[in-house]
This record gives sequence, structure tokens and C-alpha cells, in this order.
Amino acid sequence: MTKNKDKKIETSLITTARDEKYTQGSINPVIQRASSLIFSSYKKKKQAAIINNCAQDNLFYGRKGTLTHFALKKAMTELENGVGCALYPCGMAAIANSILSFVSAGDNILVTNNVYEPTQKFCQHILKKLQISTTWFNPLISEDISHLIKENTKIIVLESPGSITMEIQDIPGIIKAARRKKPDIVIMLDNTWSAGVFLKALDIDVDISIQSGTKYLTGHSDAMIGTAVSNERCWEQLCKQSYLMGQIVDADTAYMTLRGIRTLHLRLKQHEKNALQIAKWLHTNPNVHKVNHPALPGSKGHEYFIRDFTGSSGLFSFILKQKLNSQQLTNYLDNFKYFRMAYSWGGFESLILINQPEELMNIRISEKLDFTGTLVRLHIGLENIEDLIDDLYNGFKRIEGSSKET
Ligand SMILES: Cc1ncc(COP(=O)(O)O)c(C=O)c1O
Repeated sequence: MTKNKDKKIETSLITTARDEKYTQGSINPVIQRASSLIFSSYKKKKQAAIINNCAQDNLFYGRKGTLTHFALKKAMTELENGVGCALYPCGMAAIANSILSFVSAGDNILVTNNVYEPTQKFCQHILKKLQISTTWFNPLISEDISHLIKENTKIIVLESPGSITMEIQDIPGIIKAARRKKPDIVIMLDNTWSAGVFLKALDIDVDISIQSGTKYLTGHSDAMIGTAVSNERCWEQLCKQSYLMGQIVDADTAYMTLRGIRTLHLRLKQHEKNALQIAKWLHTNPNVHKVNHPALPGSKGHEYFIRDFTGSSGLFSFILKQKLNSQQLTNYLDNFKYFRMAYSWGGFESLILINQPEELMNIRISEKLDFTGTLVRLHIGLENIEDLIDDLYNGFKRIEGSSKET
């Protein structure tokens, strides 16, 4: 077990996984690109094969990883206080394969309603085809989750804050109630937003903390990777099944992810500072109905954020008082100087996307929305804060101008 609680996070992120066996004397690990790994003797070949399948440091075959992957796995395991880390080609693969590792035909899983949309579609299409049913629940359900747990319920999938609407969940409350009813239930969390820095998921009894490393871990919008860090209880099953599903990432991406991790804390602190300042500024804007930022009082689950998180990152949303029409949206979105329209987030740059209420209704099963205006999702990057506020201010001017015309 690689617990690293004695070090402060900044030091830990800089010093982790710098063992000479990975770096060969340089600062960063070597990039070891390999499929075949040569055994110097028959004895070594036999030893490598019998070493526990889930050993994180065993040079055996490229699909099990090389020195570069081992260094990243070690860093992630330490960051999230787990016992092992499985790597995947993207975040969605990490989510899908983690779930598939713990279910069989006839099982049921519970999934929060505000989950990342492709996770929802994975449950509705792939799991359904495999005769695994999904029960959706309100993200703010707390201990009432126990009423949803059936004999065949195997997993609870959490995401906090939830995609787009940003509700924070009562993770300890959910886990306590769930385990009271079913001690062996597996709890998974999409922990991408906190990057494993602001929420130590395994410390509050989550079994598997999953990240789209595509976001803050790599941090530069130029690579795709997924990670799943597990506790002791679930590690062997997760690791063995993910291996059989052929899950791995290339050595270059593993290298870039570990390089990203060195500056993770520093970047997150700046994302946090910029995003909080903008969220507070938006809160006072007359065009804005509500700001969904977990660190702002009044946002859903704010009390759980205060209790469980040590900081907030750069992604949040706000709801306009009015629903913009297509012409207004074109004028609003096409004229930003710094905010670019793109999926994903977690890189150094600011991004903007919108959702109309009816679009959100389609991806929120069994929940009614409590707003009617256009929702704007922002990822706040590392640009100068005044430049970003100017850009958003001019956006509001465009909305006000077009509202007067109509
Ligand atoms: C919260 C969340 N989880 C998972 C994913 C999927 O990650 P990837 O794009 O690396 O597959 C995303 C991507 O946007 C996301 O926002």
C-alpha cells in the first residue's frame, strides 16, 4: 500500500514516482515504448509470470505496462490514497470498464441522474444489452439511497459535482446507508472535477475513484487517458478484469500525464482562484438567474462541498434569466475573444458551452428541471482574470442588445 499522507500535497506531487528504477538517473521517468519485454533467462520469465497479476511494477508484456506506466500508476495511487491504479485510453473507458468489472447479467446498478451523458448512454445501451439494469437517482438523495438497493444491486455510481448542473452529493451519507443495507456494494465515483486533489475519495470510503485524466491530470488539452484508483477490497477484481478487457494507454501519454501531475496543484489553485472570482461576479449580474458553483452558498449540495472538499476547480455553470433564441446564441457565442466553444475541459484555456433546458431534460431521467433559461457552462482557464471578465461582460452586452431589438 502506498500511503503518502505524511507529505504535503505540493511536495508529494513533485517527489512521487521519481524512483531511480523509473528515471534511470534523470528527473522524469524514461519513455519505455514496448510490446515485447525480453526476459534475460528462463528463470526470470517464470518469475515474471507467477508474480501476482496485479503487481504494478512487473515487466511482463506491454499491455501490462512499462516503466513509464508504472511510474504514473504509482503517482496516481499515492495521489488518491489507494492500493493500485488501472490505466485506460480515456476517461469513458475507465468508467465503462470499472463498471463492467463488477457486474453480470441480471444485476442492477444505481447511477446518479446528473452523470456525464455518455456514462448514461453506456448504461442505457451497453449494460441493457448485457441484461444489467440501471436505477437512476436524484443526486441529492443522501441516506434515502437505501430504499433503492435491491438484492441484485451491485454498484453505486456517483459523480460529484454532477455534469453541467454541478450538484455536490452527500457521499459519506450515501455510502453509510448503502453499506448498512449491503456491505459488499461497490461504490465508484467520477472524481474528475477535484482531480483527486480537492477530494480524497478513498478516504471517505469510496472504493474506486475514476478520473478522465484528459482533463486536469494532463492539463493541456492534448491527450486522452483514464485512471481508476482502487482500495484494497476491489483492486484485484478491477485490475484483472481491466487487463482482460485489453485496457492500457500508450507510454507517451502516460509520460505526459505524469508530467502534468507535477504542476497539477499549482494549476488547480489558479483555476480555482479565477473561477471563484468570475462566479462571484456573475452572481451579481442582472442577466443571471443562478450560478451553479459548488463553493458558492446556495448552490446545490454546498454544505457537502464545505464538509468534504478542500477546494474547487475551474468548471461551473450559470443559468440566464432568459432562454436565448438561435440568433441570440449565434451572436453571443461566436464573438468571444478568449472563451472558445469546445467539449472537454481541464486544460489551461477558457471554454464555453451552452445547454437549452429542453436539451437537458432529455438527459435527466426522472427529474424535472427547476429553471427555464439557457444554461452556460464555463471552464475558467489560466488567462488574466480581467481579460476574461471583459470578455464575459461584452457577451452580456450582446445579449442585452439583441433583447432590445426583439
Ligand atoms: C465528468 C466527466 N467524466 C468523464 C469524461 C470522459 O472522459 P474522456 O473524454 O477522457 O473519455 C468527461 C469528459 O468530458 C467528463 O466531463
